[in-house]
This record gives sequence, structure tokens and C-alpha cells, in this order.
Amino acid sequence: MRKFFLLTYILLLLTVINSVAVNAQTINITTNRTQLVLQVKENGRLYQAYLGARLSETTELSQIYMPGTTLTSSQITGFEAYPVMGTEDYYEPAFEILHADGNPVSVLKFQSFEQNGNETIFRLKDELYPIHVTLHYVAYPEENIIKQWADIYHEEKGEVCISRYASGMLYFESHNYYLMQFGNDWGKEMQMKETKLEYGKKMLDTRLGTRSALITPPFFMVGLDEPVNENHGEVLMGTIAWTGNYRMTFEVDHNNCLRVIAGINPDASRYRLKKNEVFRTPEFIFTLSQNGTAQGSHDMQQWAMRQQLYKGQDDRQTLLNNWENTYFRFDEEKLQQLFNEAKNLGVDLFLLDDGWFGNKYPRNNDRQGLGDWEVMEKKLPHGLTFTIRQCEEQGLGFGIWIEPEMVNPKSELYEQHRDWVIELPDRETYYSRHQLVLDLSNPKVQEFVFGVVDGLMTQCPTIRYIKWDCNSPMTNVYSHYEGRNQGNLFIDYTRGLYNILDRIQLKYPDLTMMLCSSGGGRSDFGALKYFTEFWCSDNTDPIERLFIQWGFSYFMPAKAMCSHVTAWNKKADIKFRTDVCFPYKLGFDLDLKKLTDDERTYCRQAVCEWKRLKHILFSPTIHRLISPYQGNHCVLQRTDKDRSHALVFAYDLHPRFRESLQPVKLQGLNPDALYEVKEIMLMPGEKSRLSFQGKTFSGDYLMHIGLPLLTSNDMSSRIIEIEKLF
Ligand code: GLA
Repeated sequence: MRKFFLLTYILLLLTVINSVAVNAQTINITTNRTQLVLQVKENGRLYQAYLGARLSETTELSQIYMPGTTLTSSQITGFEAYPVMGTEDYYEPAFEILHADGNPVSVLKFQSFEQNGNETIFRLKDELYPIHVTLHYVAYPEENIIKQWADIYHEEKGEVCISRYASGMLYFESHNYYLMQFGNDWGKEMQMKETKLEYGKKMLDTRLGTRSALITPPFFMVGLDEPVNENHGEVLMGTIAWTGNYRMTFEVDHNNCLRVIAGINPDASRYRLKKNEVFRTPEFIFTLSQNGTAQGSHDMQQWAMRQQLYKGQDDRQTLLNNWENTYFRFDEEKLQQLFNEAKNLGVDLFLLDDGWFGNKYPRNNDRQGLGDWEVMEKKLPHGLTFTIRQCEEQGLGFGIWIEPEMVNPKSELYEQHRDWVIELPDRETYYSRHQLVLDLSNPKVQEFVFGVVDGLMTQCPTIRYIKWDCNSPMTNVYSHYEGRNQGNLFIDYTRGLYNILDRIQLKYPDLTMMLCSSGGGRSDFGALKYFTEFWCSDNTDPIERLFIQWGFSYFMPAKAMCSHVTAWNKKADIKFRTDVCFPYKLGFDLDLKKLTDDERTYCRQAVCEWKRLKHILFSPTIHRLISPYQGNHCVLQRTDKDRSHALVFAYDLHPRFRESLQPVKLQGLNPDALYEVKEIMLMPGEKSRLSFQGKTFSGDYLMHIGLPLLTSNDMSSRIIEIEKLF
């Protein structure tokens, strides 16, 4: 009898599972190497059924039954694609809404889906309320990237408030999860730290508004099953394309499943949504590598250059900047001298930094003048056009610094437009670098900020380059423009910024712009749609830069990472300081007169070599061979697409006495090919002391036996060119 019941039970269960399998609508989102499967279940809701390595065509997808559920759990939930607040799911939701009638719940049911090329769109709707959520997924097959975002709108009569609005959500079923996070502070950008995720929530978020990435840059990596590794293991690498407050939540649930939610940070941002207004979330971008971070980095960088970074496929130019050299102290004569120096150095551009504007409140220090964007007559009496002409006569392009989102209270702008400033009424004001943020949620202020660039470009149409700075986070958060909708401010600010940047890009498509925010306080893919490059850090000490650049190299193309040789860390010689900058977007920001002839010759050589080797430097193929986090050395390799030309950068930081130095094994070469190995970038008159100089090795040798690239000399470096012979 018992047997009979058991059999009947099993048969019944199988029928249920089968009917679900038959009814479930399965939709695949695939790249060449990753597959995301979504299914509509019998309850009419959309679930993630699978996310992992690309499956074979014949895999039995119809058999997948509600991953993330447990039959022992009191409730069966599953991996809902866009879970809402207030239903049966115990964990952090993607969406929360307050309807006009005060009801705080929406249940989103699947309506339809469509696939157009690589984009998949799911339309969801609440059956009881006119709330519509459209989920978008775009797959980049070759780059192995998927990005997702949501569009939200309603047709309710009254006021609707949304207080959670994730860009996307992903689920994983592994035994262990290791989160690699980045961040720290001014001058210490992109420091890496790995922690094991246990039951509960870990959030990476920011609420600084403008300098949003200052403490927490919007990047993460999760090692699935094992810690994040360069060459093996499954790793999720993700980021959010938003130049404002964001939040990335990592939650391990009671079944040891990991839930990753990425979106705008909803703190202080209960958004009042008007009827039929579409709230578009920023894009959540991720790659899932089955071969560690080397593969993931390659894919991210490839994608960024092809799809996101402004002029991502184009060339980049070297420059001389005057900031660290003159600060605010320059005049026409000084600039003329610097143009000559830039010409002799061989760079393409001269970049005039802060201090060229303001008359009533001359910008001779950072306490005044910000906002008054007219040329300072005392410093540049013949005007900007004259200065630009002088620069161009030396065969250089001209670039200029602006910080158009900000204002010093000591400025004419502040005197005239107090209501354009983000500032709390009737309270003490907190200043960061003696300045305040302009309210870009206000269209009039957007017009003004656009006008800063438009005015400059109209007056001086040959300006080739702009450094767009942003030195204050948003403090004293109150908008005179938003009135009752203060919850919209953080979001409307970023949208206002994008509006301005859209207009600039449309009107001046040839203009290249560097993104800066006291260093890397802004370094996200949302902004990089408009900027060709960004300033990784104000900290240009070469030792610190090795760590900062190491962190950024996981996500950012080398051509986007500005790296300028400066006078920071005088104990490091010019070769070491230059070699640290060489693998990225090279520039100089120091008093060249203070260098010896040999040192100047070395810098000139660096510019020439950099131009010759750009095709390798800009390749997305990076191998991080020795991490500076491991101790006293750092070694990187960049290789071109055909594996025929590579560069290896070897740095000794502060090696220990009689440290044992192992050969460095290269990666990603063709084992059967023969390569000539040559140390380049030697100081004038210096000969390479490397035993292998000019010799030929097989790729097999270089990858398995390796080269003795390390020394025990403090702060020393070598750059090795590896070229395939046949
Ligand atoms: C910020 C930038 C610097 C420089 C100064 C000018 O700090 O990060 O590079 O442009 O502003 O005030």
C-alpha cells in the first residue's frame, strides 16, 4: 500500500514538473561564452532559470525547474528576474512602489517579450494597477558582455512614488562567493580588497552625488566557488554606468544562493514619477568569465572601446599640463615658455589648467572665481585666442581646464544666482574646497553649464581638448528648483549632466574631453560615453600609481587612463616615474627645466616610443603577471591581437635584501613562434644589463621558463619589447 502511495506521489510530482516545463516559456540571452536563461512560470511571473557558461544547443533547458527553490523551505520562491517589495520573497527586492492610493505593493506579471538582434525586451505589468516595467537585456556576443536596464512608467491618476528601481538582478548557485571590491579615498583610488560573502547582505554604495566614485568606485568582481584569480575560475565582473549615487547589493540567502542587485542608490531618492513619464534606470554591465580576470578584463576593455568609451576606437594624444608645475602662477610669457618646452618634448597638446579666469574675483587660488568663466585680463591681457594662437604656432593643440558644475561663493555667479546653487536654506553651509555645486536639475542651470563650453568653443573654435573637473561632492543637499520633489534631486542632477554632455557631444563631436574629479572621483562608464579619458588620481607618486592603475586595469582600457609624469616622489628617478605612466595615456605635468639634459632626452624618447607602440598599449589583452599586492614587484604584459608583438613592464618597488628573484613567465604568446626580446627605453648612454637582450626565444620558452626581469634595486623598472620573427 505504502509503495502504491509513493508511486502515485512520484507520478504526480513528475506530471507537475512536466506540465511546468511544457508551459514555461524559455527565453535565452546568449553571448559566445555566456548564457542567461529566463522563464515564465505558471504563476505568470518571470524568473532566471540559468546563468553560466554557454550551454550546448541540445541541453535540456525544459528540465530546469525553479532554481533557488527548496522543497523543504516553507515557501517556494525562485529567482524572480525583478522581484518586488512586499510579496513572498524574503530578500532585497529590485522594485518598490507606492501607488497613488497608498498601496505599497505591485506584482509584476509577464506580458510579452521580443528579441531584436541582440536585445531582448520583457514587458511586465501589474494586473491590478497600470504600472509597467520593461526589462532590457543587450548581449554582446564577441565581447561576452551583457548589459541590462529597466524602464518604468505608470498611468495612475494620482502621484506615484518609486523607492527601489534596480537596473538589474542576477542570481548564482555556488558553494562560495568572494567579493573583490575597490576603493578608498582621495589619492588612494581603486585599492583592492577581497572578502568572503556569508549569509546576509553586503552593499557597495555611494551618496556623494557629484564625486560619486570618490570612496567606492562602481566596480566589483565576484569569484564563484573560489577567490578571484587572474587565470582560472569563474568570475563575475560588473559595473554600473551612472555618474551619481549607486548601490550594488550582494546578498547570500538561506539556500547559499547569491543575489546581485545593481542600480541607482535609492537613499534620499524616493522618486515622484509623473503619469506616463518613463523612468529609465542606468545600465548594469557585466561579464562572466570562465577563465579568471585576464579573460574578463580583456572582454570589458574590448567592449568599452567598441561600445562605450567616447572615441573608443580612435587614437589618443600626449600632452603637457601646467598644473603641478605652475599651479595658479602663470602669465602669457610663462605659457609661451611652456609651449616651447612642450614642443621640444614632442607631445601633441598643451593643457592649460585652473587659474585662467575671473576678473572681479580673480582665480589666483581655489577660494574664489569659480563660476566666472571669462578670461582673467591680468594674466592673459591679449585674450585666450592670442594664447591659443601662440600654442598652435608651436605645432601643438590647445586644451583647457574647466569646472563648470561648481561655484565659489566668492564669485559673480553666486552673487547673481543664489537659487542656482545646491544649498540648504537657513542652515550652516559645508564647503568642500571652498565651493558649492550648481543645481543641474534646473534647466536654466543646464543651459548655463552648456554655455560655458559653447562660449569657449564659439570664441576659440580650435580648442581641441577640455579637462572637465568636479572637485566637490554634493553637500547641503537641497534644490530650490525641485521644491517638493527633493527626492528627485540626485537623479535629476545626473540626468541634467547627461543632457548637457549630450548637447556638447552633438555640437562639438571632434572635441576630446578628460574627466577629472580631484583624481578618480568620477570614473564610471556612464560618464565615459562622453569622455575620451579620465584622470585616475591626483596621486602621481609612482609607487601609489602602480596600485591605483592596477585596480583600474581590470575594467578600463589603457587609452582611457590618463597617467602623467610628475615630480611626486623625488626619490624615484625619471625613468621609473615615466615607466609607470608609459602603459597608459601618457602625459607630463612637471617643470621640465628642472630636469637634466639626459632626463629630458629620456622623456622625449618616451613620447616617441609611446607613439610607436600605441597599437600594443591600446590592445585589450592584458596579463597581470605579478601583483604589487604580493610584495615588492609588479609586472604587466600587453599583447597585440595576433600575439605577435608584446610589451612587458617590470617594476621593483621596495625589494628586500637578498630577496630570491624568480624568472617571470609570460602569457598569451604563441608557443611555436620565435620572438626577439629587447629591453627598450634605456637612459641615454645606458646599455641593457639584461642577459637576454636582443636574443631570440620561442613563445614556449618565454611562457614556461620565463625571463629574469626582477632586480633588488629600489624603485627600478624595465620595459621589454617582444616581437615575433616568424
Ligand atoms: C583638481 C584636479 C587637479 C587640478 C586641480 C586644479 O584637484 O584633480 O588635476 O586640475 O583640480 O584646481
